[in-house]
Amino acid sequence: MKGNCQCTCDFSNEDPRIKELEKIIEEYKGQEGSLIPVLHGAQELFGYLPEEVQIYIAQALNIPLSEIYGVVSFYSLFTTEPRGKYIIKLCLGTACYVKGSGKIMENLEKELNIKMGETTEDGLFTLEGCRCVGACGLAPVLTVNEQVHGRLSPDDVPSLIRTYRLKETQES
Ligand code: FES
Repeated sequence: MKGNCQCTCDFSNEDPRIKELEKIIEEYKGQEGSLIPVLHGAQELFGYLPEEVQIYIAQALNIPLSEIYGVVSFYSLFTTEPRGKYIIKLCLGTACYVKGSGKIMENLEKELNIKMGETTEDGLFTLEGCRCVGACGLAPVLTVNEQVHGRLSPDDVPSLIRTYRLKETQES
């Protein structure tokens, strides 16, 4: 791959993630149903599935690009848009909704200045809604990457976001 793609991605053959992607492809190549785990691995590496990566996988697995587009657009776990470093998933399942996750979403949107489904301009946060995450006893619940935050109130939102912003400044 060269970094001269028409889209906004900027990958080159020197990108270490390409070497990792090659390893994943090698592991699954020739196996039935290899496409999903390869796409999954690629998304883990890049954070999303830009067109250039899809083309690379199509060529490496010898699969028509249209088939890859079809799979990527069918499964909601795949995304073609860059996502934030911190993926906030607020549960909008019944137990959480009854306990106020709607208002929490409103406050998250205000605090982050984005709508559900969007990513902040600094690339730090992506805000998503999701169905029951199986922690109804902690409702209302949200996750930030793998971290679960339960029994939230709408007023907790500013300090929650502040914690992750602070973490970021400490790491950089
Ligand atoms: S409804 Fe939110 S965790 Fe079950």
